[in-house]
Order: sequence, then C-alpha cells, then structure tokens
Amino acid sequence: MKIIRAKDYRDMSRKAANIISAQIIMKPDCVLGLATGSTPVGAYEQLVEWYNKGDLDFAGVTTVNLDEYRGIAKEHPQSYYRFMQEKLFSKVNIRPERTFIPDGMEADAEKACRAYNEIIEKIGGIDMQLLGLGHNGHIGFNEPGTAFEAQTHLVELTESTKKANQRFFASDEDVPHQAYTMGIKTIMQAKRIVVVVSGRDKAEILKAAVEGPISPAVQASVLQLHNHVTIVADEEALSCLP
Ligand code: GLP
Repeated sequence: MKIIRAKDYRDMSRKAANIISAQIIMKPDCVLGLATGSTPVGAYEQLVEWYNKGDLDFAGVTTVNLDEYRGIAKEHPQSYYRFMQEKLFSKVNIRPERTFIPDGMEADAEKACRAYNEIIEKIGGIDMQLLGLGHNGHIGFNEPGTAFEAQTHLVELTESTKKANQRFFASDEDVPHQAYTMGIKTIMQAKRIVVVVSGRDKAEILKAAVEGPISPAVQASVLQLHNHVTIVADEEALSCLP
C-alpha cells in the first residue's frame, strides 16, 4: 500500500487526478472504475479542467461505477447516474454508451446484479478503480460484515450510511434504504486501486483500514491484500497515522 500525503482537499484532488490522467494517457482505451460521494468531486473537476485544456482525451475510455441506489430513477437529482453526468460525463468527450452504472430501477435484484457482473466481465475488468471511504469503512456500498467474496449485490444501507446521506435529500424519508453495489471481489480484481480520503472525520477509519486487522468488519481493510493500492489522503485524514 502506498500512501501519498496531500496538504489539503485541493492538493489531494490534484494528486488523484494526476494518477487517473496518467492511466488514461498510458492506456487511452482503459477501463476506469469510478466512485461517487463528495470526496472524488475535486478530482473530477480537475480532470475536466485538463480535458478543456486539451491535455486529456476520454474518447477511448470505458467507465464502470461502483454503485447506485435501488428504486431511484436516473433523472432523480440524487441518483449516482445524474451525479456522474453532472460531475464528469457531460463535460468530457466520453462516449455515453461506454459508461456503466448499475440499473437502480431494475426491481429484480438478481437480474440487476447478474447484468452488472456480465458487463464488467465483457469489458475485460477494471484497469484502475477509484474509491472513496465511508465512515464505517465501506467501499462502494459494501457495508460492514459483507463477505469479501461478494460480486455485485443488493445492500441494505446501515443507519450510519443513511445518516451520512441525509444531507443530500429533502427529508429523512427520501433517503434510500437499499443500493446495488459492486462487490469486494470485483474491486479487488482491478489492476490498480486509488483511494481518496479527506478530512479529520475519516482519520480513525483510515487508520483501521490501513493498520487494523483485515476483517469484513472494516471492508476497506481488504485493500491491504491488493498489491497495487495507492491512498491519496490529506493531512487531516492522515492525522491518526504516523
Ligand atoms: C457513499 C458512496 C461511497 C463513498 C462514500 C463516502 O456511501 N457509495 O462510494 O465512498 O459514500 O462518501 P464521501 O466521499 O461523501 O464521504
């Protein structure tokens, strides 16, 4: 595990965007695994800026997102589909048909998960997976206790995750209870993994993920077993680590 120390959120975003852009330049037809949440937003903004300058070309890139709320339509302001359109896809020259997100409106969970696993297999797996870190150590929406062997599956979101998501929804009742997420098995099969972490509120869980026992109780701890993980974290997030 390589840890890259960033001064602050802005610095973390630039450093993460640098790694992602290097991947695109080295392999223009790469498959990027993408994440939502507030942490990667700055990196997406940076990528858009470099695209506008003519330094990046997304024409050959394929993306596969980690997760989507179940029962939320693409057009919903809080869907991860919409998030990705707004933050990245509509602002660069990526081909819409090469961007994949689980279908939140597919009510048949088995069908939705199988379809997503097949997509990931068909596109040949992930070259670089970008991850954020949940306060309970989740990656994607893999909540504590999930088997590391899981592929795409339906998740009952924990109270703490729903609470963390409340700020994005008009009322508590609007916060979705379920999501489809890529499983740890699939994430671990990515050739490279980049984790972005920012803020004092992530410091304890980052320490647990990096130094603690490898256990499904802290899903991100599994990353200790991957041979090509880069964590880009700011000083506040690293404040519990030496
Ligand atoms: C959500 C997402 C995760 C994300 C996490 C942390 O649960 N499904 O992919 O990493 O939130 O979000 P944030 O970056 O806003 O702290």
